[in-house]
Amino acid sequence: MIVLGIESSCDDSAAAVLRDGTLLASVVSSQDAVHGPYGGVVPELASRHHIRNLLPVIDAALERAGVGLGGVDGIAVTCGPGLVGSLLVGLTVAKGIAQRRRLPLVGVNHLEGHLLAANLDRSVDDPVPFPFLALVVSGGHSGLYLARGPGDYACLGRTRDDAVGEAFDKAAKLLGLGYPGGPAIDRLAREGDPSAIRFPRASLKRGRFDFSFSGFKTALRQYLLAHPAVPAALPDVAASVQEALVDMLAATTVDAIAATGVERLVVSGGVAANRRLRARMSEEGGALGVDVLFPSAAFCTDNAAMIAFAGAPRLAAGAHDGLDLNADADLPFGTRWEG
Ligand code: KG4
Ligand code: ZN
Repeated sequence: MIVLGIESSCDDSAAAVLRDGTLLASVVSSQDAVHGPYGGVVPELASRHHIRNLLPVIDAALERAGVGLGGVDGIAVTCGPGLVGSLLVGLTVAKGIAQRRRLPLVGVNHLEGHLLAANLDRSVDDPVPFPFLALVVSGGHSGLYLARGPGDYACLGRTRDDAVGEAFDKAAKLLGLGYPGGPAIDRLAREGDPSAIRFPRASLKRGRFDFSFSGFKTALRQYLLAHPAVPAALPDVAASVQEALVDMLAATTVDAIAATGVERLVVSGGVAANRRLRARMSEEGGALGVDVLFPSAAFCTDNAAMIAFAGAPRLAAGAHDGLDLNADADLPFGTRWEG
């Protein structure tokens, strides 16, 4: 079965073609240059650029896969969570193609895509075995999920305010490093001392697995007011910022590993590209006897391959959503941890 995946939940317009679980093509058109001058994603601009980019991106994916629209058997499209205007563009394009071509269409939760993205680097017969814990960290989300089986996910905790990618982006903006800030901090931090400055680490009530990053931004702003960053000190500040954010993610994830007793951890989403986070989670997981898996960088950040992968089993089973499927900016995912 050939599935066309479409993703437009934030600022990347993406399309992918998957045949029987194997990726044939994945194309992503980034809008970093559009939003860079603003230091963050401007929702209205994101929607307008999706309108401009999405059809050429779909054409490019089909061409690279060597598949015409006539060869597609079903469409998987992100229907939430995300920016509602951006989601609507992808959904409308997907519905248009589905209606014209009489193809089945399924709506995919963007977070399920991130959760399953590590499978895109593995062979079809060797998917990441369930159960596993997933730390999904991006510009829009920071959450811990227990994946118990296909389609059976529980949310163990999430951020109560900013996403960690947002914290990286806002910190980079305060340091004048440009957008997106995560990669800039990651690069600069390599030359700095992570113990140069001790930023506060938010620690929430034990037994829950929520995060909070908004206080960190305030702490950094206050530090910079008291110690205006001189260029020579920037690598130390970047390394210390990164260390504080990674510490907070690692501490809560380690608690969740202990509480669930899982043997595998998947770290996914744009921030999973961070070198320090990768090293730290591998180290902490290793010490606990847990297998730590990261999707390759292209599948960590937003892409449509993960959406096609997440939607494919439902399409293969003959299921589909109606053309009244709606974009839901706050589409819920999993149930909340009560333990
Ligand atoms: O998954 P993604 O592409 O889009 C969202 O769903 O948000 O994630 C983008 C986020 C941005 O906040 C970006 O700064 C962050 O991921 N990011 C990183 C790194 N690469 C991307 N953060 C830290 N270190 C990185 N190397
Ligand atoms: Zn994402």
